[in-house]
Amino acid sequence: MMRPLVYISRSIAAEAISLIAQCCDYRIWNNDQPVPAKILEEEMKKSDGVLTTLSDQVNAAFIAGAPNLKIISNMAAGFDNIDISEATAKGVMVTNTPGILTNTTADLAFALILAASRRLIEAEKFLRNGQWQAWEPMLLTGQDVYGATLGIIGLGQIGSAVARRAKGFNMNIIYCNRKRDYRAEAELGATYANLKELLSLSDIVSIHCPLTRETKGLISYWELAMMKPTAVLINTARGGVVDEGALYEALANRRIFAAGLDVFSEEPLPLDNPLFKLPNVTLLPHIGSASIATRTKMAIMTASDLVAGLTGKLPRNLVNPEVVKDTPIEKS
Ligand code: GLV
Repeated sequence: MMRPLVYISRSIAAEAISLIAQCCDYRIWNNDQPVPAKILEEEMKKSDGVLTTLSDQVNAAFIAGAPNLKIISNMAAGFDNIDISEATAKGVMVTNTPGILTNTTADLAFALILAASRRLIEAEKFLRNGQWQAWEPMLLTGQDVYGATLGIIGLGQIGSAVARRAKGFNMNIIYCNRKRDYRAEAELGATYANLKELLSLSDIVSIHCPLTRETKGLISYWELAMMKPTAVLINTARGGVVDEGALYEALANRRIFAAGLDVFSEEPLPLDNPLFKLPNVTLLPHIGSASIATRTKMAIMTASDLVAGLTGKLPRNLVNPEVVKDTPIEKS
């Protein structure tokens, strides 16, 4: 039997590559930088499966132009970089990596909550720049996290993991979600609110919803205007959920206290982005899931789902299960 041909769009953990090599031939963009879109498109034309990362925009034309393609395995929990409806229409399976990155990403969200509220990066720069002359009663004072009200937008796995951490900080937790979640409310002691209520009541707002047509630009001028002047906004989900221009205005005019961002509408964040000029925003280069253990597990999970899909088994993390509903298939 012919071995399936796989394209791997980035240098990933060796264990993941070995898994693929056991039953597939593969080609790889063996580089830490993303593969140019044109090369990805060309490689997809020849491939039965493709392993992508969130930097690859897999648009409808790439999928339509890949006649043998059976599966796209995306090494990320989010899959907004892939045209899911085109994949589904063409019967191409799409997988992601939910669950394994939950705690690592929640840790980072909490690190940003603390860093932005207590001005950690600003304080560190101040010290390194030799500006520390004396202890001063009001020097670099920020906002308390312990006991504050945390508003979680999107109480999925990561949002819930952030809420669990917040309980240890005696925080009052409110959330908004597409659907009210009674089980999470009971476990986390979280109170359901609509977006308006959440924005006006929270001391810290943390975004954990996926980027979809409904959530694109969800936090814009009016939403920021509803927040307290002492409030802190944290985004570890997707940059597109926040209107960055509106956020810049709100931070520059001190209409909110601070923000902590790990994600941006354009990544890498262009160096001329005005956010760089503001002291009250903590900026990170999309490292939510970046622990050595978690990124390794993500690569392995992505590779094993890719192999499953190419060897007649059911991938564990299928985003579009409709594509296999009429196919007799073995569980992987
Ligand atoms: C990271 O942002 C992911 O979706 O895994």
